[in-house]
Amino acid sequence: MVKVGIIGVGTVGTSVVQILKDNSDIISARAGKEIVVTKGTVRNLNKKRDIDISLSDNLNDVLEDESIDIVVELMGGVDEPYKVVKKALENGKSVVTANKALLAYHRYELQNIAGEIAFGFEASVAGGIPIIKALREGLSANHIEKISGIMNGTCNFILTKMSEEGADFAETLKEAQELGYAEADPTFDVGGFDAAHKLLILASIAYGIDAKPEDILIEGIENISSVDIDFAKEFGYVIKLLTIAKKVGNEVELRTHPTLINKNEMIAKVDGVMNGVSVIGDKLGESMYYGAGAGGDATASAVISDIIDIVRSGKSSPMLGFKRPLEGEQFSLAKKENITSGYYIRMSVEDKAGVLAKVATLLGENSISVKTMLQKPLNDGGANLLFSTHTAKEADIQSALSKIKELNFIKDKIVMIRVEE
Ligand code: NAP
Ligand code: HSE
Repeated sequence: MVKVGIIGVGTVGTSVVQILKDNSDIISARAGKEIVVTKGTVRNLNKKRDIDISLSDNLNDVLEDESIDIVVELMGGVDEPYKVVKKALENGKSVVTANKALLAYHRYELQNIAGEIAFGFEASVAGGIPIIKALREGLSANHIEKISGIMNGTCNFILTKMSEEGADFAETLKEAQELGYAEADPTFDVGGFDAAHKLLILASIAYGIDAKPEDILIEGIENISSVDIDFAKEFGYVIKLLTIAKKVGNEVELRTHPTLINKNEMIAKVDGVMNGVSVIGDKLGESMYYGAGAGGDATASAVISDIIDIVRSGKSSPMLGFKRPLEGEQFSLAKKENITSGYYIRMSVEDKAGVLAKVATLLGENSISVKTMLQKPLNDGGANLLFSTHTAKEADIQSALSKIKELNFIKDKIVMIRVEE
């Protein structure tokens, strides 16, 4: 029998306990051994819970218990779980975690500490979708040209409801929290940070890049309004929080931001809490992975897949980066300002002579080539000016917008959303 201790028995931890019980027949048959959760730790022992395992509020009751083989970290956060995972590994226990924030900061250190000890984190990216196993195993013969996807269930749930039902942002976020999709601090979801954490993990597997969230371009969905969702629809696009790793020569662009995507693209049809990840390999071409990106059972499904792996083989190397250095080609992180994209720009302006010419001049002076332009009258006598651009450099668009926003006929905050063709 293999004994498991869970640090943090909340949404995901409760599902792990339940699924190990509900599906014990198939799980033990696949693993070759019975897997039993013998202990869990929580913060508040007085909370009512639907589980019948022994609970403690002392982390050491799991970490120092010699009978426990595998520690599953599901408490969330960065500093405390770092200490927990480190101690578990130092005590010789295999570890499974779903904690992408922890890995965004400490993945290489923890991989080093783990050494030959199993350390699994399939659940840390895209909920129940086995994207880490796909990248690490199924696609390992390929150079990865691009990874792009919807990797935050909460944001996708909110954007889908805003687009399809005209739902209110704050109310929909509350619903996502009640359904167990959101992070303990939901600004990690809506601010784009959670998706960025996941991206950093995938970038380590695909390219061996060792970057931190601060190093990459992160924008959230807080400023997406129904006005832009409706304009996007009118032009045949949907707005999604898209997370992208793109190889350009030996550099890799890493970014997550709201993005206009043509409504006919497969990724545009990934709605609600579902996640979708497209990976382009030089030999396979594009492959696409789709499934529930958040929620207790979906995430627990991935957590348990790691536990089963460990029980079967005794190890599960995280394999961030490469077993030995790449010959010649080394990947490095592209600078944020050099990232290139198409852009959608909306500005509300006073409707008077010379306005369009001034805006067009500033765009041109900053090497921004306009692809389409539209003027829509507003009820207050002003107008919405809408532009889409040809591919341009991030630094150029930022420079143009910083100058345009100072013009005295600009009436409101300028909206800029990147476009992925
Ligand atoms: P959650 O519902 O908030 O559960 C967290 C659990 O950890 C709770 O049981 C909490 O105790 C316990 N805990 C927190 N701090 C603790 C401490 N200092 N000592 C002991 N126990 C502590 O969170 P969750 O949604 O299950 O998420 C858990 C982890 O999985 C996070 O890293 C999250 O990012 C990741 N994840 C979540 C999902 C999802 O859909 N929810 C998907 C993928 C990954 P109390 O119950 O007493 O408060
Ligand atoms: N809060 C995360 C999300 C959980 O909404 O995608 C899954 O990682």
